[in-house]
Amino acid sequence: MFSRIAKRSFSSTAAANYKVTVLGAAGGIGQPLSLLLKLNHRVTDLSLYDIRGAPGVAADISHIPTNSTVNGYTPEDAEGLKKALTGTDVVLIPAGVPRKPGMTRDDLFNINAGIVRDLATAVADHAPNAAVCVISNPVNSTVPIVKEVFKQKGVYNKNKLFGVTTLDVLRASRFLSQVAGTDPTTEKVNVVGGHSGYTIVPLLSGTKHKSTLTNEQRDALTHRIQFGGDEVVQAKNGAGSATLSMAQAGARFAGSVLKGLDGEKDVIEPSFVDSPLFAEEGIEFFASEVTLGPNGIEKIHGLGELSNFEEELIKTAKVDLKKSIVKGQAFITKA
Ligand code: NAD
Ligand code: LMR
Repeated sequence: MFSRIAKRSFSSTAAANYKVTVLGAAGGIGQPLSLLLKLNHRVTDLSLYDIRGAPGVAADISHIPTNSTVNGYTPEDAEGLKKALTGTDVVLIPAGVPRKPGMTRDDLFNINAGIVRDLATAVADHAPNAAVCVISNPVNSTVPIVKEVFKQKGVYNKNKLFGVTTLDVLRASRFLSQVAGTDPTTEKVNVVGGHSGYTIVPLLSGTKHKSTLTNEQRDALTHRIQFGGDEVVQAKNGAGSATLSMAQAGARFAGSVLKGLDGEKDVIEPSFVDSPLFAEEGIEFFASEVTLGPNGIEKIHGLGELSNFEEELIKTAKVDLKKSIVKGQAFITKA
């Protein structure tokens, strides 16, 4: 802590020191995500953990000349997970199995729920103050699992738990730009709800194309954003789901969390968080824009003005969301 403050006060351009840990770092997402994190100047200590292969990934990435040390750990070192987590500021969790064609994200629950529960237990034990960014599917259930584990351990902080929905946001920008014929880097779409099929709700009425998109274009775009993951699963034909675009999404989200921790102002990203927006209806988590700050979430934004079409999408999303959240909670509380 002292070195972080000292560095900043001596030079306005000095990078802050942050430790970031990737759990599942040798996987399809984990490897490119770790690479992108190695390129982030705010990351000075990168810890990679996987049940297999993380030391090799760490050795490889460590040759890139940026200002961070990289260490890889596996369970062969009995203290590996503890070492990966101790003192970390941000934990990203892409550990778990991906979909094959014909599967829903919920079909991954039986395997991934246990993986996420066990990793969350280790995070609660060794890095209870870290910001935790959950990538493993089904996100709508795995994030509530982390909450319940942390609650049982007495270390839950709702401002530091995030379901990573950034890939939906990237897809929305890209797909909208293809329809509108614009530069995708200038397209910003807020995507709310959750991260699975009809729970993914892009708010296209909040974009600059609100009045130019036809209803047919709006419907087709919305469907493509909701089911964009299926396009990749089908194209990979049994070899997994989105990994490279997800790595970019995860690196962007982690970068924003780090900017917030580092005191940068007005850092806003949509994320699936413990939210008051629909809590009265028993929906404890909802994705919407959040402002990120030194203590994690500083503000959860409302949804703003919605079109009738979007109101209907939200209604549908809430039904699926509630079931997935309750399923995740019950996995821990009824175990
Ligand atoms: P993958 O199989 O390529 O990699 C998963 C990695 O997790 C493997 O290296 C595996 O060894 C590791 N692992 C398994 N159990 C572990 C444990 N207990 N501890 C540490 N590591 C463990 O899969 P992938 O393509 O990288 O996808 C990973 C997950 O991310 C999947 O559940 C997938 O559905 C999800 N995903 C989410 C999003 C999103 O937008 N949130 C996008 C794409 C994929
Ligand atoms: C995605 O949106 O690409 C991920 O959630 C992976 C998947 O299963 O589609």
